[in-house]
Amino acid sequence: MASVPSLASTVQQRLAEGLSAALPEAGSADPLLRRSDRADFQANGILALAKQLKGNPRELATKVVESIPANDVLKEIEVSGPGFLNITVSDAAIVETLAARAADARLGVPLNEAAGTTVIDYAQPNVAKEMHVGHLRSAVIGAAMVEILEFTGETVVRRHHIGDWGTQFGMLIQYLIEHPHELDHKDEGAEVSGEEAMSNLNRLYKASRALFDADEEFKTRARARVVDLQAGDEETLALWQRFVDESKIYFYSVFEKLDMDVRDPDIVGESGYNDMLQETCRILEESGVAVRSEGALCVFFDDIKGPDGSPVPLIVQKSDGGFGYAATDLSAIRDRVQNLKATSLLYVVDARQSLHFKMVFETARRAGWLNDEVKAVQLAFGTVLGKDGKPFKTREGETVRLVDLLDEAIDRASAVVREKAQDLTEEEIAERGAQVGIGAVKYADLSTSAARDYKFDLDQMVSLNGDTSVYLQYAYARIQSILRKAGDAKPAARPELELAPSERALGLHLDGFGETIAETATEYAPHKLAAYLYQLASLYTTFYSECPVLKADTPEQVKNRLFLCDLTARTLHQGMALLGIRTPERL
Ligand code: ARG
Repeated sequence: MASVPSLASTVQQRLAEGLSAALPEAGSADPLLRRSDRADFQANGILALAKQLKGNPRELATKVVESIPANDVLKEIEVSGPGFLNITVSDAAIVETLAARAADARLGVPLNEAAGTTVIDYAQPNVAKEMHVGHLRSAVIGAAMVEILEFTGETVVRRHHIGDWGTQFGMLIQYLIEHPHELDHKDEGAEVSGEEAMSNLNRLYKASRALFDADEEFKTRARARVVDLQAGDEETLALWQRFVDESKIYFYSVFEKLDMDVRDPDIVGESGYNDMLQETCRILEESGVAVRSEGALCVFFDDIKGPDGSPVPLIVQKSDGGFGYAATDLSAIRDRVQNLKATSLLYVVDARQSLHFKMVFETARRAGWLNDEVKAVQLAFGTVLGKDGKPFKTREGETVRLVDLLDEAIDRASAVVREKAQDLTEEEIAERGAQVGIGAVKYADLSTSAARDYKFDLDQMVSLNGDTSVYLQYAYARIQSILRKAGDAKPAARPELELAPSERALGLHLDGFGETIAETATEYAPHKLAAYLYQLASLYTTFYSECPVLKADTPEQVKNRLFLCDLTARTLHQGMALLGIRTPERL
């Protein structure tokens, strides 16, 4: 494992050295290096520096250029405009750095030296309830963040904070006691499908809700059942466990369809913190962070007020003694910080819960559970909209079932794969169809900044052109096909060759992979990785149309171009894998 400094960082370093040689009084000023269209890089830092030192920026820039010793990385530095530097690197430097990347299994991407432990709270559906598109976002974005952070060397603990507790279980359990066969499977010997488990739960949920609303006596029995559940009555708990188990069968079937690896020990739902709730309240009350108000235990905030101007508190314990969502989340913070030793807590949760998290985090800060060493962040995501730009609903106005959407995506993708397929068997078409369809859904979710709402538009998602995963997957498969056709010609870096403009553009972009990963990880912004990969595939497409690979002029050039193809493919593969998207070898 060898991390490879990017060309950008090497150039930055040389410039910084030149700067301090020319202007010792400038200290360690930042040359502010950027990629540029006019040359390979542009440095804008001298302008501000000249202002600060009251000098002439063009003169300063010339002095800096003169103090950079001749070297084989920087080919040309030109002072331009009011005092920018335009920098061109040598072709050899590009190919040599790429060769060093290619020699490393991690493509030269450095590990984060300041890595810590992040607990990621994601993919948190609710027991006895159907999953919808909102749960899709949390699962997809969260899984990508798990992979990206782990790749940078972070220790990641996954937590699926499923909704498995609450007063509605009194109603459900009581109904099941009175209708004991409602959760039975059609074929008791066989393994039950997620579909069947969910449809039983759904039917039971609706029937018990209807009875609860219509029948006062049932309501009373259901409420007594909540008390039994909270008191830990064994029979009641065993029935509650059945709901959880049946739901998990369903959750796992959806996660499997999503090609996501969810592990049982990581499912720690709301009920997992029951034993901590009393103590959480006691600590908050004793420290004065929370106060009793009209019988309830509350935390108040200066800046959080209702429409009438009165303060809106976070309710940690209700006046009837019950605990809600906030008490659980506060207890989970204690667990994650004190037992799991987290240095960062990341919550991949709908933006509509932002006020809740704002209050929970602030409370935890006052209690000292969060501080300068341990931070909490909500990676808040926007709403999934229908093609009409309104929240995604069926024609009947119901929330769309996630499985239906996924199935439709797979169908559409299979049609696309079939149309383009040349030598694929039916079995391969089905397998690729699933990889392309699920990839399309994930990519659409990951390629816009999470905070924004996005339109769920399957036609666009499985389109072969444009910013889609299918486009990326075809680029990857096309490269693999070239590598197969190359026969005896093997990819090999040839730094002595002159590069065509599209080769340089591709090479310089490949060089930026490590920086993109670092930025994506620190900003919790998977869309930056997606944008990088799309740009990579686009630059590859241009390279491919301008530079013949197997029919290049000389055998050495064939090898060097194969080398660029191969490194592009490996970078695409690695990047897509971090986003949870497959890259089939043939499409
Ligand atoms: N189960 C919740 C929902 O479906 C999401 C849980 C988010 N995580 C948390 N720690 N509160 O809305």
